[in-house]
Amino acid sequence: MNDLSINYMGIKLASPIIVGASNLVNNLETLRNLQEAGAGAIVFKSLFEEQVQLESLQLNSQMEMYNERNAEMITIFPDMQHAGPAEHLHKLREARKTISIPLIGSLNCIFAETWVDWAKQIEATGVDGLELNFFGLPRDFETSAASIEQEQVSIVKMVCQAVKIPVSVKLSPFYTNTLQVVKRMEEAGAKAFVLFNRMFEPDISTNSLKHIAPFNLSEHGDYRMALRYIGILHNNTNASLIGSNGIHSGLDVIKLMLSGADAVQVVSTIYLNNPEVIVGMLAEIRKFMETNEFRSYEDFRGKLSKDNTRDPFVYKRAQYIDLLLHSENLFKDNKLV
Ligand SMILES: Cc1cc2nc3c(=O)[nH]c(=O)nc-3n(C[C@H](O)[C@H](O)[C@H](O)COP(=O)(O)O)c2cc1C
Repeated sequence: MNDLSINYMGIKLASPIIVGASNLVNNLETLRNLQEAGAGAIVFKSLFEEQVQLESLQLNSQMEMYNERNAEMITIFPDMQHAGPAEHLHKLREARKTISIPLIGSLNCIFAETWVDWAKQIEATGVDGLELNFFGLPRDFETSAASIEQEQVSIVKMVCQAVKIPVSVKLSPFYTNTLQVVKRMEEAGAKAFVLFNRMFEPDISTNSLKHIAPFNLSEHGDYRMALRYIGILHNNTNASLIGSNGIHSGLDVIKLMLSGADAVQVVSTIYLNNPEVIVGMLAEIRKFMETNEFRSYEDFRGKLSKDNTRDPFVYKRAQYIDLLLHSENLFKDNKLV
């Protein structure tokens, strides 16, 4: 039987399927099931700046001074005693005791001191690595993209200097030049990149005339932007590359590896199909390797990356222009053929 283990930023994982950050970790039984099904590692849900701040605001009895901000936080975290950072660390320690496969902490902060302080506290729980989740939205009309990126690179550097465990970055899909951001963050100490985060977007109900926040599961195939960027980054970074977003089957994992990924993260397919879905995905990976007589990942990883493909234009504008110029061949009577 093929060895499916991989090296993820220096940590050995028994399989390339990492369970991405989510609320699945709230249930210890689910954690055990994920391990049993063959997950290589599990990322714990993120600790958010708002959780940290709300607790310290409460401790400082300064609630009135921050009424507007406080109201927003109370809405997000109505049951504060179960949402604070102390509870988060407690759950993280419980998770650490429950599973033996690598566990990765995750952090999403705003202020530099919170990032560094809580990175150290998360490290102290015994996790094997830390993922920095840079999900954020523009807060004003003045701050430039360059200064936001510079701040993020500085945070990566500060956190990497403050902790001993390997640090990965879960990237937003929206940078003007993602490749440069990866290069700079790698220089700052990041050992892995997760491409890409899935942004939570609001919707509007035309019945209630209110905003709604639907559960944000991915669709199968949403991985295509990750596939492109991993294909371009393969061979051009020493960091581990992790595909994420819309990876629902074993063949999706293969596709990402063919473009150059070391491993993948999955969340939605587990919500949709239970932890056992990982068993089937690993069987698909084994079958693909046996059918193609690939003994190890090295036989096919990156085979279709930008540097290795026979058609280097596939990752470039030419593919897009070609599609637009010849799109009439794709349709007959205004229907996709
Ligand atoms: C219920 C839920 C909770 C999530 N919580 C987090 C989180 O705390 N931190 C984070 O970085 N991503 C979080 N995510 C995003 C996932 O980790 C993942 O990036 C996203 O769902 C795309 O992967 P998928 O297509 O396999 O679902 C969450 C996703 C879901 C559905």
